[in-house]
Amino acid sequence: GKVAVMFGGKSAEREVSLNSGQAVLNALVSQGIDAHKFDPKDQPITDLIAGEFDRVFIVLHGRGGEDGSLQGALDLFGIPYTGSGQQGSALAMDKVRSKYLFVGANLSTAPFAVATEGKPFDAEAIMKSLGDKVMVKPANEGSSIGMSQANSAEELEKALENAYQYDHEVLIEQWITGQEVTVSILNGEALPIIEMRTPHQFYDYDAKYKSDSTVYLCPAPLAQELTDKIKHLAVEAFALLGCKGWGRVDLLIDANEQPKLLEVNTVLGMTTTSLVPKAAKAEGISFEQLVVNILRGTLA
Ligand code: DAL
Ligand code: MG
Repeated sequence: GKVAVMFGGKSAEREVSLNSGQAVLNALVSQGIDAHKFDPKDQPITDLIAGEFDRVFIVLHGRGGEDGSLQGALDLFGIPYTGSGQQGSALAMDKVRSKYLFVGANLSTAPFAVATEGKPFDAEAIMKSLGDKVMVKPANEGSSIGMSQANSAEELEKALENAYQYDHEVLIEQWITGQEVTVSILNGEALPIIEMRTPHQFYDYDAKYKSDSTVYLCPAPLAQELTDKIKHLAVEAFALLGCKGWGRVDLLIDANEQPKLLEVNTVLGMTTTSLVPKAAKAEGISFEQLVVNILRGTLA
């Protein structure tokens, strides 16, 4: 059948998507699959019907690709696609509602508060309740875009102004000092854990895609018991949000060796520095095999 590889788009992660999508397209074509580029920035979604595509490989990050809207449209068109469905995608994209679900299901995650643009907000009280050091994140964004650390009420106000450029709702999380790790999930199974070490304040956009100072350890050098605990937590979080196919669950491990869930991602970066291809490689799965595997998931 004919496959549309959707990438590019209009989100803040367009550049990441362009790099990821081209790599996916090349890999599919190299495996003899009849795959074609489809950039919704250049053509209307309805062209998918006119183009008689049998399946869609989604490599659009952020809004309009990862947030459930595209998934809902494809459901209505009756075209199978890679990854999570409409609801799982929408929940995973939304860091605020993800947190409420983690807490509701008793899954380990850092304490947090929520700020909404234009609504009254007591920065002093929030800082006090969260331990005077926080991470500020737009609710629906990816690749660390719009995120910053705040160490005082004044810095929090500034961090919020910055985050509001991307979303009217903002997650304020207690700062966790510890190791940054991620668990890639392929067709329901956890791949080896990756630990990311960066000299930056956190694993930010630059550390993700530009810097050569980021060190990736895969499998992460963690005790077996902790490894199993983290993988289990990741698979539970993925299922809780109703995600399927491929995904990636990001976590921090605090100073007491307690894993804390950050978020679930449903359309992963597939650039040369990206995480999921690294985890797959550690499991003996090549980039081409990974891509074909993800596509096969659409038939399940
Ligand atoms: N948001 C980026 C693409 C990722 O999670 O890999
Ligand atoms: Mg993300």
